[in-house]
Amino acid sequence: MPVASIIDPKQVHDIIGRHQLADGYDMVLDLEKSYGPWLHDAGRGEDFLDCFTCFASWPLGYNHPGLDEPEFERELLRAAKTNPSNADLYSREMASFVDAFATKVTPEGFDHHFWIAGGSLAVENAVKTAFDWKARRLGRTSFHDDVNDLMIVHFQYAFHGRSGYTLSMTNTLPDKVGLFPKFRWPRISSPGCEFDLDGNICNDVAALEAQALGELEAFRTRCPAGGDKIAAVVIEPIQCEGGDRHFRPEFLQGLRDFCTRADALLCYDEVQTGFFGSGKPWMWQHKGVEPDIVSFGKKAQVCGIYAGKRIDEVEDNVFVRSSRINSTWGSNLVDMVRSRRFIELITEHDYAANTLARGEQILTGLRRIARDTGAFTNVRGVGSLLAVDYPDGDQRNAAIGRCYDERLIVLPCGPKSVRLRFPLNLTEDEANEVLNRFERAAT
Ligand SMILES: Cc1ncc(COP(=O)(O)O)c(C=O)c1O
Repeated sequence: MPVASIIDPKQVHDIIGRHQLADGYDMVLDLEKSYGPWLHDAGRGEDFLDCFTCFASWPLGYNHPGLDEPEFERELLRAAKTNPSNADLYSREMASFVDAFATKVTPEGFDHHFWIAGGSLAVENAVKTAFDWKARRLGRTSFHDDVNDLMIVHFQYAFHGRSGYTLSMTNTLPDKVGLFPKFRWPRISSPGCEFDLDGNICNDVAALEAQALGELEAFRTRCPAGGDKIAAVVIEPIQCEGGDRHFRPEFLQGLRDFCTRADALLCYDEVQTGFFGSGKPWMWQHKGVEPDIVSFGKKAQVCGIYAGKRIDEVEDNVFVRSSRINSTWGSNLVDMVRSRRFIELITEHDYAANTLARGEQILTGLRRIARDTGAFTNVRGVGSLLAVDYPDGDQRNAAIGRCYDERLIVLPCGPKSVRLRFPLNLTEDEANEVLNRFERAAT
């Protein structure tokens, strides 16, 4: 078995492909030579400009100098040489992470946290929290009570992951969810905004919102046995995989009001949008409509949920009663140590403000390119979460291929959108380089 350092980069795909599906990028990530937004391909010996960031999961580019700080390195190595079951066995390293996250990332008023590995499982546990809460609100407190009639409202174009419950709420590409048994929970239409090249909403989104909220109310009134069985409404504040679909605050407020009326929890899935990706800790803070539970992952390194006061309306909720939601490792200590360092660096350098500024810079540039070339429309986004629409999927895929030829990595989403997800510490010059390459690849 060869150690990593003596493997010829040209053999990497062959070695991996012998034992698993290896249809990812044709490059080989060089962990030492990659830096900032530049992903070094050990095979070609070339740098790629990274607007992919491992599916929006890598917050500060490669080899940030702040990660070389000796005390952090010692802590990281200590954590990496073990793998404690954090849900039950606590360490100072864990305490330091929990304190940083809860005081610098979680907004005021959300006192409950739960950690796990993987974004799908974060959403899955938001859903479990809501089911337990709703069952108890309905007086079904025995573990032998049947609660199979409870359900989760979700949306067209949603992506919440590929685990059991989340699969039933995901409806992007059929090959992600087809041929797996699913729950039949109410799926509501998704009133996404479209934008002109001045950044104004240009579709009749108010009518779409009214339709979606009407569908939601209809589900409630049609519920069997007169009781209300909706445990939660789950929505991404921007539907990312589904096509970077933005919602107005008015719509989220409509969902908030519905949840209050229906005695259900409003859950935001911020796995992709959270942890400063929008230039604020959480995308929902741009909209000003408070949720009851937020699931997070990706850039945070540690996945999980935070929850607010409505949870406490049920005395025996999952944050109080042992082992209702749990996993062996309760996330991973190495991820916790790295996450804590990222929180420090983001705070110290005010990368949130940088993310907002770079986002505006790239949006302005993309609008100019759209006007000049006519290649794409619907330029939209906030912070590092940017997207444009090509006329159709084929033209979009061709443009992404041309970007790759220009050594710029961007992602598809939805039927015809290109999504850019840049690292939060991107510089002004690097943002201009993103635009140069995107423009050359536009047509
Ligand atoms: C909004 C959202 N929720 C959940 C997930 C699932 O996360 P993971 O792939 O870490 O399970 C993703 C992944 O892209 C996502 O974008």
